[in-house]
Amino acid sequence: MYTQAMDLMPKGDDKPSVPLSASEQQLLDRFEARIDDGGFVEPKDWMPEHYRRTLVRQISQHAHSEIVGMLPEGNWITRAPTLKRKAILLAKVQDEGGHGLYLYAAAETLGVSRDELIGQLHAGKAKYSSIFNYPTLAWADVGVIGWLVDGAAIMNQVPLCRCSYAPYARAMIRICREESFHQRQGYDALLVMMRDGTPRQRDMVQDAVNRWWWPSLMMFGPPDDVSNHSAQSMRWGIKRISNDDLRQKFVDATVQQAKVLGVTLPDPELRWNEARQHFDFGAIDWDEFRRVVGGDGPCNRERLADRVDAWDDGAWVREAALAHAAKTAMQRKAA
Ligand SMILES: [Fe+2]
Ligand SMILES: [Fe+2]
Repeated sequence: MYTQAMDLMPKGDDKPSVPLSASEQQLLDRFEARIDDGGFVEPKDWMPEHYRRTLVRQISQHAHSEIVGMLPEGNWITRAPTLKRKAILLAKVQDEGGHGLYLYAAAETLGVSRDELIGQLHAGKAKYSSIFNYPTLAWADVGVIGWLVDGAAIMNQVPLCRCSYAPYARAMIRICREESFHQRQGYDALLVMMRDGTPRQRDMVQDAVNRWWWPSLMMFGPPDDVSNHSAQSMRWGIKRISNDDLRQKFVDATVQQAKVLGVTLPDPELRWNEARQHFDFGAIDWDEFRRVVGGDGPCNRERLADRVDAWDDGAWVREAALAHAAKTAMQRKAA
C-alpha cells in the first residue's frame, strides 16, 4: 500500500541548497532533457542530489507503509471467519511484507542502507501512511481496507510504474499486480456479507465504510494548492498525476462500486456534477490528517511499538543468517 500523503518533506529540505557549478549545470540540463524525453534514470546515472533525496524519502516512506500496513489486518488472521478467508488474508499480509522488501531494496540503490531507514522508522523520525494508524474493529474492516485502502493505493501506484527512477518503477509493476488482488479480495468479502449476510453483518459493513471513507480520501495527500513540492516531483517524473486528480478519480470509481455493494458513502455532499462530469464531495478534515501524520492518531504508538518488538524478536534470525553467510564464505575460501 502506498499513499501520496507520505509525500512529506522536512522543512527546509525542499530546495537545492548549494548553487551549481557550470559542469553540474550541464549535467542537470542533460538529466532534465532525458526525463523530458520520457527516459528512465538508473542507479549509476548522474542525478541531482535533490532528486536522490526526494526519492529516498518517498521510497522509504512507501516501504515503511507496506510493513506497518501488515499490522492492522494481521490482527485478524487468527479470527478470520473461514479457512478460505484466512488463507487469502495470510497471502495478502505476506504480499505487503514483500512490497516492503522490494522497496527497501529500491531505496538501497540510492546509497542508503536498510538498517538506517528502519532505524529512522523505529526512532519515530520517518513517516508512513497515516491510514494505518486507525484501528480494525471488526472483520468487515478487513474487507473495507481491501476495497478502499488498497483501491486508493492502486490509483496512487499505477502512475508510479512510469516513475522516472527505474528501480522504483520496476518494483511498482509487480506491486500493482498484487494490489489489484488485494482490492478484489476485499470487495468480494464485502459482497458476500452484503448479499448473503444477516442484517447485523450488513450493519457491520456499513459501519466499517463510515469509519474508513474519509481516511481513504486523505491517502491522496494534501490538496494540490498546498502540496508545495508536488510541482518539482511532477517536473522530474517522480509523480505523474496530481493529488486532487487522483482523489477525484478514486471517488468517481468508488461511488459506482458502493452502489453495487449496497452501502452508503458517509458524505451528504456527494453528488454527480453534470457540468464537471465528476462527483462533487464534501470537505476533508485536514486537521485530523495532520494530527494523525504528526503521531497523534488512534494507534500510532501501538503500531510503532509492534514494529520495534518485531525487529527485536527477529534479531536471532538476522544473527543466524549473518553467521551462516560468514561460514559459507569461509568454506568457499578453504575449498
Ligand atoms: Fe502493498
Ligand atoms: Fe495491498
